[in-house]
Amino acid sequence: MNYHILTLFPEMVMDGLNTSIIGRAVNKGILSIEAINIRDFTKEKHGHVDDAPYGGGAGMVMQAAPVCAAYEALCERLGKRPRVLYMTPQGKVFNQSIARSLAEEEDLVFLCGHYEGIDERALEIIVSDYLSIGDYVLTGGELPAMVMIDCISRLIPGVLNNDVSAEIESFHDNLLEYPQYTRPEIYEGRRVPEVLLSGHHKKIEQWRREQSICRTWERRPDLLKTANLTEKEKLFLESWKSLQREEKKDLQL
Ligand code: ADE
Repeated sequence: MNYHILTLFPEMVMDGLNTSIIGRAVNKGILSIEAINIRDFTKEKHGHVDDAPYGGGAGMVMQAAPVCAAYEALCERLGKRPRVLYMTPQGKVFNQSIARSLAEEEDLVFLCGHYEGIDERALEIIVSDYLSIGDYVLTGGELPAMVMIDCISRLIPGVLNNDVSAEIESFHDNLLEYPQYTRPEIYEGRRVPEVLLSGHHKKIEQWRREQSICRTWERRPDLLKTANLTEKEKLFLESWKSLQREEKKDLQL
């Protein structure tokens, strides 16, 4: 996977992405990440890349020409026109299934706006996807690009040490991940669940699946609507829910 980030703040994304697991994958040659400074493509004497909005209003708007020129220079260098993802709170909210489909691409361009955004004509000309990381407004698209790159990268074979964990973790099957424990066996009087010490793999697998189901119901019940539960698991959840209700009643008495 080759990521190309169009930004006015190249050091912000490069510093953030060259560390930890993503940095190691870059060193291993599984990923490449480049930040392209939009400012390098302005033809204006003083290096301006923004101007006041037509029609008035607060702030500055990034001009179309340097943004388009940066993308065209990249396309010429690559000999192809990769997908351009524009980071905007107006976009579709990024999720695990979008990440899975983007992980199939060979090259991805992340376009990061700043100030009051980018001239609409540049977006019309080069953008293929409008993506958001949630219903809140940030000062620019760099953090959203870093979030998406991190999420997409861990789905690429070889990026994580153990490829299975990318699949089993939270949101696999639309369920949250089960709780994890490591040494010591007792911490502040709290024991690791007995089943995890049993060495009984089938039982451990069943316990983890049940924990995932209960946890999803407690914390993200919206996800359960599209989770694939077996009939047996649905029954388990119902009896667990009624047990919870009983416990709540007992506490109120
Ligand atoms: N730019 C500013 N806020 C954003 C958000 N929530 N998601 C993506 N890009 C953004």
